[in-house]
Amino acid sequence: MCGIVAYIGQKDAKPILLEGLKLLEYRGYDSAGVAVLTDAGVEVARAVGRVAVLEDKLEQQAKSGKAFAGTLGMAHTRWATHGGVTEINAHPHQDDQAGIAIVHNGIIENYAALRKLLEEKGHTFQTETDTEVLAMLIGELYAPSEGVDLEKAVQAALREVTGAYAIVVMCAQEPDVLVCARKGSPLIVGVGNGEYVVASDASAIVRHTTQAIPLDDYNVCRITREGFRTSDLQDEQVSPKVMQIEMDLEEIELGGFTHYMQKEIFEQPASMRNTLRGRIDHNEGKVVLGGVAGFAKELVKAKRVILTAQGTALHSAMIGEYLLEDLAKVPTECEYASEFRYRNPIIEDGTVVVAISQSGETADTLAALGEAKDRGALALGVVNAVGSTIARETDAGVYLRVGPEIGVASTKAFLGQVTVLTLISLFMGRRRFMSQVECEQLLTELERVPTKIESILAQADEIRKVTEKYVTKENWLFLGRGYNYPVAMEGALKLKEISYIHAEGMPAAEMKHGPIALITDGMPAVFIANRGAQYEKVISNIEEVRSRGGHVIAIATEGDDRIGNVAEDVIYVPDIPEPLSPLLTVVPLQLMAYYAAVARGHDVDKPRNLAKSVTVE
Ligand code: M6R
Repeated sequence: MCGIVAYIGQKDAKPILLEGLKLLEYRGYDSAGVAVLTDAGVEVARAVGRVAVLEDKLEQQAKSGKAFAGTLGMAHTRWATHGGVTEINAHPHQDDQAGIAIVHNGIIENYAALRKLLEEKGHTFQTETDTEVLAMLIGELYAPSEGVDLEKAVQAALREVTGAYAIVVMCAQEPDVLVCARKGSPLIVGVGNGEYVVASDASAIVRHTTQAIPLDDYNVCRITREGFRTSDLQDEQVSPKVMQIEMDLEEIELGGFTHYMQKEIFEQPASMRNTLRGRIDHNEGKVVLGGVAGFAKELVKAKRVILTAQGTALHSAMIGEYLLEDLAKVPTECEYASEFRYRNPIIEDGTVVVAISQSGETADTLAALGEAKDRGALALGVVNAVGSTIARETDAGVYLRVGPEIGVASTKAFLGQVTVLTLISLFMGRRRFMSQVECEQLLTELERVPTKIESILAQADEIRKVTEKYVTKENWLFLGRGYNYPVAMEGALKLKEISYIHAEGMPAAEMKHGPIALITDGMPAVFIANRGAQYEKVISNIEEVRSRGGHVIAIATEGDDRIGNVAEDVIYVPDIPEPLSPLLTVVPLQLMAYYAAVARGHDVDKPRNLAKSVTVE
């Protein structure tokens, strides 16, 4: 949610900042801005819209002699929280006296009170944002003649604020210094040779260096070309933890695809093989999960599991609930993190809370995790982003290993999450009640999934044609039962978030309890109707839709020659044991959403109003 990139070194900052912004644009794209420290002082340019608009503006300014030439600067791509999407509200923001410029991710919760105080001291505000309040506050506290330099002014200002922030600050009076800090919003300092790239996301750093310091909450980092110092808000020195960024450049490039979402859907066979690699022991019919091995006893004895997440990750959690109860026979529930954190949940001895998140930075999921830990639960993470906050805050966890996911609509991370939850269920199940043979059969089937996904992806063109038949319809239903009820929810979410078609996902049986009233002539209803325990029931639900004029698109099992009699369109997936079926049935739904968005002319990777990582409540 919002992207930050900043540079200090020997090179021209502007192109580095613009390149970084383009890589971070998926985190927010309402408006963008850049500030460079030049011979003339802090020069700022901002623009509403995409980074390309800012780039054009900078080109125009260069033609009229304003080159933004300098080797220290910062940039931001915004997802609006406070204040409308206007140029004036775009970052960087500046103070009115000390020459401070700041970029900020997060929300300053007490900004109104601080603003009032600063106005009483005579400061005049240009914008409606919380960030400008922070710039003014730092400027107000900045007093180099009294020993309060930029670093100390930032520390003092942050002692006054409540809320979440990742900030980078510069000051015209200290032309060789960048100060950055974080609380609750990610910020990484990339350490190069005589140069530093600070960013909210490793993708903007990896082209320059793979050595990085992920800042912890309340860390402040003062950077010059000669080195850096990390402290807390009381100015106590903090030892930085250096990490290696493990990311290939190809992983963040489109590589011949038109959109990241398309690339990520097609990457799924490879990403799933990566998720599974080294985690299956065929000799013992067991799952090997290094990340949770130290807690194997607690997992085997667990009395209850709570899975918590938001959005697509919540849908994978819903499948996890079925998997854990079915395969590991452990009572499991699944809950929106945003609800869990505020409803005074009961955590008894033997409760394991699993936070599921692609980014590892989702504010609600992070807060739910904190609540679970405070109440004594063993906290596990199922996370994709290595070194992210949730990954670091959990007692143990299992990484997805699907590589960076850049498309705002989550696809390969969902598949990775369901795969990991299957592995955790088998890890626990095998050590609790499951025989070696039973576990081994499922593990063998699990390893066949990537090849089966390849055969679904080979039908992409057929899936596109089916989708295009219905793409003008404004209301769709997605229906499934058992393991495939959460898949129906996921199919509906995918369609609405990128094609802006209204879609509802629900258990197929629930339709009769109200939503059936919505069915009109020609309304598309996507049924996940693969072979499984409730197949006959699903067929009855299909008949109910058809008899009211709905058009049925069925996701069915290869070899099912009956389904064609009741559905207008059928997309076939290979046969598979039911607990593993979501890993296949979701793929046609991802493709349908993708092709619907393309056909409707939408910006697939940057859908309106959305951002990749939701770091505000
Ligand atoms: O990074 P996370 O997995 O924690 O994100 C959770 C949701 O915000 C995310 O899945 C969102 O729903 C996606 N846009 C769905 O495609």
